[in-house]
Amino acid sequence: MVSETLTPTEISLRRPDDWHVHLRDGDMLREVLPWTVRQFARAIVMPNLVPPVTTVSLAEAYRERIRAALPPGADFTPLMTCYLTDAIDPDEIERGYGAGVWVAAKLYPARATTNSAFGVTDIRRIERILERLARIGMPLLVHGEVTDPEVDVFDREAVFIERVLAPLHRRLPELKIVLEHVTTEEGVGFVAAAGPSVAATITAHHLLINRNALFAGGLRPHMYCLPVAKREKHRLALRRAATGGSPKFFLGTDTAPHPSADKESACGCAGIFTAPAALEIYARVFEEEGALGRFEAFASVNGPRFYGMPLNETRVTLRREPWRVPERVGSVVPFLAGEEIAWRLV
Ligand code: NCD
Ligand code: ZN
Repeated sequence: MVSETLTPTEISLRRPDDWHVHLRDGDMLREVLPWTVRQFARAIVMPNLVPPVTTVSLAEAYRERIRAALPPGADFTPLMTCYLTDAIDPDEIERGYGAGVWVAAKLYPARATTNSAFGVTDIRRIERILERLARIGMPLLVHGEVTDPEVDVFDREAVFIERVLAPLHRRLPELKIVLEHVTTEEGVGFVAAAGPSVAATITAHHLLINRNALFAGGLRPHMYCLPVAKREKHRLALRRAATGGSPKFFLGTDTAPHPSADKESACGCAGIFTAPAALEIYARVFEEEGALGRFEAFASVNGPRFYGMPLNETRVTLRREPWRVPERVGSVVPFLAGEEIAWRLV
């Protein structure tokens, strides 16, 4: 709900969830977890650890480490995911889903992104898995980029849709698919036109930056993530998708912290750490688009509806009250470090 004034000073909404998060492990987990917990009631936790989360017992152990790292009194539910490999056993996936350990399976094309070396080398190799997911109703979360080095890096999402995703949806129309961190006009077009089993998450940073941000006055490693930001027309398409009221699009930050030394490097890691200001950035985008009335659906309703989970019953408030994003969080430089943000989560 948004107050009726033209420039509201407060936004009140159901507590939101983050449907795509990298929480990492060990010291980094302890460093970054409080920022996600502060903003979100639940989060889909990505399984791209080293080694990746490929078994039910690894997922349970990781969930325990997350719970142990929670700030005292925190009310937060980590939703675990299973990292698909060529060799994974469909019975193991079904067992973990039935036991409520993991809620979705993540498809990383091998070598598409950070810690994806064990990912799927060819979707045809996991056909049995995909059929099983469709049968048991477990969602498939997709990193939607081809890894073919012949394909231009800015075209990899569009080519993935054409070569892999569209044929998969035709083969298994009942399979629930989330095109994670969609970045292109082609991506949102595919999702919008597909059946109700297909949805997408949209990050805060892809709503804010286009590919120019990577090269503004010099090389900007903290603006580098995968899928990489695209041209302005794609950013505008993402904004229309996020704020347009379709239930197929929902919040997933893809907050992905790396130590600054690993990003400010001759071969810098992909990943943008947005957790300190993610919800506030989304609020800014919805305000700029004149769509604050649709903010709650994107942040707090469409995701749980797609996953078949209850909506959160408590509420949060954002107040128009400028503050600055911290310059650093431990070893990590956050997105928009040191910059002023208009909305503050109270
Ligand atoms: C993610 C990471 O660092 O784990 N990086 C990123 O740029 N988004 C992996 C991923 O989601 O692609
Ligand atoms: Zn991610």
